[in-house]
Amino acid sequence: MLTSKPSRIASSEITPRKNYLNRRAFLEGSALAAAGFVAPVAAAAVLPTGDRAKLKDVSESPLSTGETVNSYEDVTTYNNFYEFGTGKGDPYRNAQDFEPRPWTLEVAGHAERTGTFQLEDFVKPYALEERIYRMRCVEAWSMVIPWVGIPLASIIRELKPTASAKYVRFETLKDPQQMPGQRSRVLNWPYREGLTMAEAMHPLTIFAVGLYGEVLPNQNGAPLRLVVPWKYGFKGIKSIVKIEFVEKMPATTWAMAGPREYGFYANVNPEVDHPRWSQARERRIGGGLFASKQPTLMFNGYADQVASLYEGLNLRRNF
Ligand code: MTE
Repeated sequence: MLTSKPSRIASSEITPRKNYLNRRAFLEGSALAAAGFVAPVAAAAVLPTGDRAKLKDVSESPLSTGETVNSYEDVTTYNNFYEFGTGKGDPYRNAQDFEPRPWTLEVAGHAERTGTFQLEDFVKPYALEERIYRMRCVEAWSMVIPWVGIPLASIIRELKPTASAKYVRFETLKDPQQMPGQRSRVLNWPYREGLTMAEAMHPLTIFAVGLYGEVLPNQNGAPLRLVVPWKYGFKGIKSIVKIEFVEKMPATTWAMAGPREYGFYANVNPEVDHPRWSQARERRIGGGLFASKQPTLMFNGYADQVASLYEGLNLRRNF
């Protein structure tokens, strides 16, 4: 990936975890999904607007890691979001005026339920969960982020993909007016990503709508982004406007930009180096300049849950 020096950013406040976690138990569970996209239901996902708006009725997930979370400042000021610049501090600086509402989402391809949805209608039937995930960037650094999201599987089940749907492809908004990075040809816009159907349906895969108990900041992919914790961070496409169920493996942004360096699978794998650097170790952001690097774990530590998805696949060739 192109790298440039992260610039200094003034400290922003840090939210103590105990203040934002809403521990109220979630009652209605999966019955909500059956209600469809339009019916307002109790304890359904509500996405308030506005900077750092609190999310309500967020339940805690047993799938969270117990590792120490990174500070709000780390998570929101050290980012990759090339639509707002290639420097780590650029998204924080340049995405402030981005307007993530109103937001529509197009669903296309091999599914019974396709069309254009308002974001609010799209997420309303689902319960919000906090998922604290270890995230590993392909650039050999990592963070632990308290996401708030919805399992992608619950959404996909409602969309009823047909037997021809073998992959899901995702697209980010293309709007050079609002996204100054898109005025340069640093990547082939819009940013595109994809998952196999099995990956998309895996319980660890979520659509995130928030972090730290609040709506997603623009620089982290407001209002809706993908999070797949056993893959390198670039799979986590931000500010999604389109989901399409397709038969063939879709072309993805980084694999198009550097096919020898970035693959479709992008599973975290300490044994397969990037052609230009080792993937064996990682630097945890926030650990300080002199903190020692830690070993990278196979599938980012999620091997027990996901290794079976790749049985028989040559992970060296299918990187
Ligand atoms: N999505 C879009 N649309 N554009 C991007 O440049 N960068 C990816 C991914 N999603 C990117 C994107 C990369 S390389 C990483 S590491 C993660 O977003 C970073 O997510 P974060 O900034 O929320 O930590």
